[in-house]
Amino acid sequence: MQFPTGTGIYNSERKKHKMKISELMEKMIDFSEGDQHDICHFLKVWGYARTIGETEGLDPETQRILEAAAIVHDIACPLGRRKYGHADGKHQEIEGYPLAKEFLQGTGLGEQQIERVAWLVGHHHTLTGVEGMDYQILLEADYLVNAGEQNLSRKNIRNMYEKVFRTATGKRLLKSIYGI
Ligand SMILES: [Fe+2]
Ligand SMILES: [Fe+2]
Repeated sequence: MQFPTGTGIYNSERKKHKMKISELMEKMIDFSEGDQHDICHFLKVWGYARTIGETEGLDPETQRILEAAAIVHDIACPLGRRKYGHADGKHQEIEGYPLAKEFLQGTGLGEQQIERVAWLVGHHHTLTGVEGMDYQILLEADYLVNAGEQNLSRKNIRNMYEKVFRTATGKRLLKSIYGI
């Protein structure tokens, strides 16, 4: 929904506005400043996350958190590349948490939801101690994309299938896409 700018109504109405996932997506695309790779990456991760979450029957609240996290999960990559010349997982987690919190202000997500999404961003390269379907599915969706983008070996994919993937849908997709 568009609101007229430059009016008092704008700010108060905007505060109340609960962004749809599509609006959050557009905000993240804007944030990416035309980086095609970054944009394609999170679109794909979001697509798998949405598919797995819906097929696994997540409740609407968890599904929304999952989809928001999938959209913003690599929010620290541009900063990491500028600051360190690359964007390794640990830095993405450390820098991503506050960036995601800031990015999600005014999107209509509640404080607790923002905290959970930012926490997920802060853990999306950590494969141990996974608790929560949102966390599990985010890892699976990101890996489904990374395996192709990074041309990961069959051994790596099989290992992830055995050790990290847990949802039936994620496992089916991994098999179907990579023929393991
Ligand atoms: Fe990442
Ligand atoms: Fe990613």
